Amino acid sequence: MKILYVTSEAVPFCKTGGLADVAGSLPPALAEQGAEVAVVLPLYARVRDRFGSQLKFECYDYVDLAWRHNYCGLFSMEKDGVTWYFLDNEQYFNRSALYGQSDDGERFAFFSRAVVRMLDHFKFWPEVVHCNDWQSALVPIYLKDDGVREERYRSIKTVVTIHNIEYQGRYNPYVLGELFGLDAGWAKDGTILLDGDANLLKGAILCADAVNTVSPTYANELKMPYFAHRMEGVMRQCSEKLSGVLNGIDMKLYDPRTDGRILKNFSAEDTAGKDACKAELQRMVGLREDPQTPIVAMVSRLVSHKGLDLICEVLHDMMELPMQLVVLGTGDQRYEDFFSWAAQQYPGRMSVRMDYNEDLSMAIYAGADLFLMPSKSEPCGLSQMIAMRYGTVPIVRETGGLKDTVQPCESWRDAGNGFSFANYSSGDMLHVIREAVYLYKDYPDVFGRLRQRAMSCDFSWARSAREYLRIYATITGQAWPIHTDTRRALEIPPEEAAPAEESAPVKEAAPVEEAASVEEAAPAEEAAPVEEAAPAEESAPVEKPVPAEEAAPAEEKPAKKTRKTASKSASKAAKADKKTEKKTSSKKGTAGKKKSAE
Ligand code: GLC
Repeated sequence: MKILYVTSEAVPFCKTGGLADVAGSLPPALAEQGAEVAVVLPLYARVRDRFGSQLKFECYDYVDLAWRHNYCGLFSMEKDGVTWYFLDNEQYFNRSALYGQSDDGERFAFFSRAVVRMLDHFKFWPEVVHCNDWQSALVPIYLKDDGVREERYRSIKTVVTIHNIEYQGRYNPYVLGELFGLDAGWAKDGTILLDGDANLLKGAILCADAVNTVSPTYANELKMPYFAHRMEGVMRQCSEKLSGVLNGIDMKLYDPRTDGRILKNFSAEDTAGKDACKAELQRMVGLREDPQTPIVAMVSRLVSHKGLDLICEVLHDMMELPMQLVVLGTGDQRYEDFFSWAAQQYPGRMSVRMDYNEDLSMAIYAGADLFLMPSKSEPCGLSQMIAMRYGTVPIVRETGGLKDTVQPCESWRDAGNGFSFANYSSGDMLHVIREAVYLYKDYPDVFGRLRQRAMSCDFSWARSAREYLRIYATITGQAWPIHTDTRRALEIPPEEAAPAEESAPVKEAAPVEEAASVEEAAPAEEAAPVEEAAPAEESAPVEKPVPAEEAAPAEEKPAKKTRKTASKSASKAAKADKKTEKKTSSKKGTAGKKKSAE
């Protein structure tokens, strides 16, 4: 299975949010399961500065988009079993910020067009192109456009992952031709149009063969106006190809037993080191050194959808409880002002750092006792998983990935791995905070077992990678790619591997309720033995076993029957010629760039 993963950010190269964590971990996890994976990213200034010396120049080409004819360089790097490609155009990407520029539309249209253009130069012709968020949303659209003329583009299946539906890439439809190089038909037939705007994410959702979000609950929520930012109709329309795949975290990077970033290592069995981390945290942020008082922590962007209004409403009631509060993050002025002001009211009991600081965030994950995430909406959320791994018990609102990863504590039967509340209500939040604080203070043994269960949860990427591979298998009509090694890892006896004809797994196309499996977030020891290992007949909801071709959305544009103009091998030969012809003359590249800038 050949997968091209398209993303606008990835750890360790460039990061503004959770997408980077996912894009840094999922491709290696797919490769580990036997897929051939390449990732493609823009070559931002920060990538060039930090990784420039490790990048290999492959070749360059020109990208035609509307009236523009722009240089595109291709660099690569091998890491973790994956080829990481970087597309170079200094005019668009040699800037310090990743996004938030007035020409973002043009920059990411170039990026998406360039991904399709550079397919000829990648190490393989992909079977699946997997895009993420609005920045690469034009890729499935361009593939459809090009597919009208060339079969080889039609052969590529596409997946779109929505990490946060709030960001859709909305533009005046007037710019469709000039900026995106698309003809007016794309807006006229409604494919790319929503509420009068050209909406790139909507176009991608309609064009993709499979669409997913980053948790099963969020996939369901997206069908409701409260969460969908006006896309609920589109999501409902696409529910057959929509699923929710819970993100994972890097279990090796975030391992309290070995993490060199924290003061003292510890484990679920022996949490003595955590006490030391707690004392250190209290010293670091100016909280009173008191081992008996629980520290409630927040590491968050200070923006509205993180549920900060709830905290503003009842902060003083919270601070009447025998607890300490530490907040780390930056964001909207009004929240920064509120938290700074509030911290002054509770010296030694409340500490606020307006900062984006990896080291301090690790000290908090390791040293705090409770982790508060009362989000209004949360597609997946990674910090609650990291917190749990470090024995910091989460208190969350039951939304999106928070609901799928945190099961409420039931002390009477020693179940659950955190605390949660359902309604977006400050009273309800206060109630569970109180419950958590008093469980910590009055029933340390029960709290200790709860902490242990949180720490033993399995949030590894391997599980999510298997779900993605199943989606890829569904849309390409391939057998579930079980390789000998994977089979061994999954402990599947050879005879159980599904034969190719039977495998058409349509599960991903099923309504999310079915695809969702809360079990997956359960502590490792409870996690159901990997469902994927079951023979295909069992794993697929047999209701509607549609062959992949039919399951794909109707082509938005009639695909004219054209002669196969370029076979893959022909293109490869041409590519080889081009490479020799162009050599690696950077001078020529600069000239090209100048030309295009004129
Ligand atoms: C976005 C979402 C977050 C999710 C992350 C990775 O940042 O807001 O909930 O964990 O993407 O998918």
